[in-house]
Amino acid sequence: MDTLTKDYAKLSAISLQARILTGIMEVISWDQETYMPEQAAAIRAEQLEALAGLIHKEKTSPAFVKALGKLVDLKTGKILSNKVSIPQKGALKAWYRDYKIDKAIPKNFVSEFAKLSSQSMQVWIQAKQENSFQYFAPYLERMVKMNQKKAELIGYKGHPYDALLNLYEPDITTAEVEALFANLKKSTTVLVKKIGKAKQIPNSFLYGKYPSEKQTQFGKDLLKAIGYDFTKGRLDISAHPFSSSNHPTDNRITTRISNSLMNCIGSVLHEAGHAFYEMGLPQEFYGTPLCEPISLGVHESQSRWWETRIGLSKPFWTYFYPELRKTFKGPLEKVSLNDFYKAINRVEPSFIRVEADEVTYTLHIILRFELEKALIEGSLKVRDLPEAWNQKMHELLGITPATNSQGCLQDVHWSMGAFGYFPTYALGNIYASHLFLSFEKAHFDWETRVAKGEFAFILEWLKDNIHRHGKTYTSQELLKNATGKELSADAYTHYLTKKYKEIYKL
Ligand code: CO
Repeated sequence: MDTLTKDYAKLSAISLQARILTGIMEVISWDQETYMPEQAAAIRAEQLEALAGLIHKEKTSPAFVKALGKLVDLKTGKILSNKVSIPQKGALKAWYRDYKIDKAIPKNFVSEFAKLSSQSMQVWIQAKQENSFQYFAPYLERMVKMNQKKAELIGYKGHPYDALLNLYEPDITTAEVEALFANLKKSTTVLVKKIGKAKQIPNSFLYGKYPSEKQTQFGKDLLKAIGYDFTKGRLDISAHPFSSSNHPTDNRITTRISNSLMNCIGSVLHEAGHAFYEMGLPQEFYGTPLCEPISLGVHESQSRWWETRIGLSKPFWTYFYPELRKTFKGPLEKVSLNDFYKAINRVEPSFIRVEADEVTYTLHIILRFELEKALIEGSLKVRDLPEAWNQKMHELLGITPATNSQGCLQDVHWSMGAFGYFPTYALGNIYASHLFLSFEKAHFDWETRVAKGEFAFILEWLKDNIHRHGKTYTSQELLKNATGKELSADAYTHYLTKKYKEIYKL
């Protein structure tokens, strides 16, 4: 074995320990959200904290730093050997990035941040319940300050927000996100206005008495049909749908059951998209960045791909609607496929992001991005947030929330200190449509095949172009390799405009 191979193997072995512990943490977190007895909450919190401590210790151990230092110049990030392969280079860059961030943030800052985050989340829950922004404001002020400090500690070239954004979406700048969003904002607001003047589509039959066992069973049938492997995963119920990734052989998902039929189906497809990505990572590199997803934006592109590009398409329901109708009988008996398709794609400005349709969703994200960027750069004060929120909501969606609970208090993200996270939701949509262009080129007959119930070729394409690469390439390189094109929001804009022109006869 040459030195490079030996050093790389050593670093991988140390890194594997942290990944194994993270996997254990994933499983007990999954349990916490699904089957854990109520009274176990306190001890579970202690268990999670203990594991988090162990993981941090492994990731920053002197042995790890020493092993990394043999392959990378720890001061400059330069890779020391010129014999590294392309995947090894990607892995080393990812390890070094984590090392740098960790080194930049002192231990006492990390624990202070964690403490404030848990207090602030508690306060936020109550503030939201009582519609009291006043109560939450001092905590949010401290959270903004700590995030500003964090950005300074990590460092940035252009905008302080870059440092925070890159924690979730590396290799993209605030300016680039701004440019992508500017385009999208213009075209989407125009589209929403046009739709607002068109005849609204009835959709009341999508809400009502849909028995929960039947919803779960239908979800399972969908998953099986699109290629979700139940020997490597499961479907359960939780208050907030999520996917839990422990290893390519264990990717569990959950959904939520309510009186809204599409809520459950949409969640199932969304979380399956996340799980597919993790299942498709190359297992032989488990423990290294090559068996890790590249970014949250790319992750979200996978979930939105299945939830919207496939799951809200006509061919998909051409195949599944007869079964859906048979399963639920009553409420859908008089609804044609075409009316069902239009109903599940109904567009209507609303206050709550998580309930938003495909068209208005992006505007909810752009609103949050603009506001949190302003908070971080200091051009917006926390006390002025509710008014700024309401103004922007009116500007983008033409509606004004009556309460702050329906407005700036609705999301958990800011209370937990996750500034820079929101853009990844919209980037997911932009990436998905950008990728879809190239998928359509490879499979021009995808609609005919999906309408017949063929799905394996879709997953194959995603696996080949996205999943199997892990962190070999940056997200932007990965997208470029898959499409041959520079990233833009054009494909997404084009898709929305074409689809909704037809549905609303604009
Ligand atoms: Co998601």
